[in-house]
Amino acid sequence: MQTQVLPVNEESIKLAADLLRRGDLVALPTETVYGIAADARNGEAVKKIFLAKGRPQDNPLIVHICGMEMLHGLVSEVPERAYRLAKAFWPGPLTMVMPRGPEVSDVTCAGLDTVGIRMPSHPVVQAVIRASGVAFAAPSANLSGRPSPTNAADTLADMDGRLPLILDGGDSDVGVESTVVSVSGEHPVLLRPGYVTKEQMEEVLGEEVLVSHAILEKLRPGETARSPGMKYKHYAPKAQVTILKGDFEKYKAYLQEHAAPGVFAMCFDGEGKDLPVPAIEYGTNGDGASQAHHLFTALRECDKQGAQVVYARCPLSNGVSMAVYNRLLRAAAFRVEEL
Ligand code: TXA
Ligand code: MG
Repeated sequence: MQTQVLPVNEESIKLAADLLRRGDLVALPTETVYGIAADARNGEAVKKIFLAKGRPQDNPLIVHICGMEMLHGLVSEVPERAYRLAKAFWPGPLTMVMPRGPEVSDVTCAGLDTVGIRMPSHPVVQAVIRASGVAFAAPSANLSGRPSPTNAADTLADMDGRLPLILDGGDSDVGVESTVVSVSGEHPVLLRPGYVTKEQMEEVLGEEVLVSHAILEKLRPGETARSPGMKYKHYAPKAQVTILKGDFEKYKAYLQEHAAPGVFAMCFDGEGKDLPVPAIEYGTNGDGASQAHHLFTALRECDKQGAQVVYARCPLSNGVSMAVYNRLLRAAAFRVEEL
């Protein structure tokens, strides 16, 4: 299959809408990361996503909408909390897991009785949903296990020959996938951290948001994840990544001891020049939003430069940094060293 990369204009939006209505795939930009869209009601279409990504069938997809009226048929109930969070954070990088409605394909939800719904703020996704009238399932546009792409070139690198169309809408702003929160149980539960933080949601809801322990810890053998995506090794470049916890002086000393061909540093902006190994910088120290924006391109850059071993500076673990730490932990297969 030939993969076309097109700039965003009226014609390419129309082509994307036609492909979606016909049950085909389209890769497109969102404010978080690039996604691969298919009609969430059409099981045959959604199966193509799993094939294109090489994604395990038991990992459910998020359904994207552009207005509250589209929830009809997709969910069986809109919990009160969902209205409050929607008012505060939609359109935007927040996915809410709600009781599933009758029209969502089984393939989309991987057979669960809940469905994750997101109303993205990116104008291109909104335009494609509006033009097609299709609520679409869309996972990140990476091959399963790889870092999520945040631009059209990285999307093409993973998806060339696997789908007909990539819309090029420039860089994604946020850089990490949406926050996933369950609002269907007794308590709200954070299933995946993102740009919308636990603290922000607690302020809106006036209650504690529980944190699924799979976010910052490895699942115990035999344990099932509430968010199936959390159980896989993920976001990983080819290199072996280790997170080093400690201040810059200790980090630098560690690298001086471990410098060798193929060893790279993943550090904060401005630090690279003082290190004894090649360095890839991934945002401002202490600034989760800046690190989120650069994290996945930095992980992909490790591969492009042929890194074999990567020692990464450790982000904080609250606010937006929780999302950065969560992704980096998986890229590092939970290898963390205290300096
Ligand atoms: O920002 C995003 O959310 C991007 C863009 C393209 O919108 N999409 C994305 O999708 O990250 P994906 O498929 O890569 O991640 C979906 C995550 C997985 O961790 C999955 O397990 C979880 O959401 N998820 C989806 N539906 C769920 C459900 N019903 N219950 C629990 N977790 C669910
Ligand atoms: Mg993903």
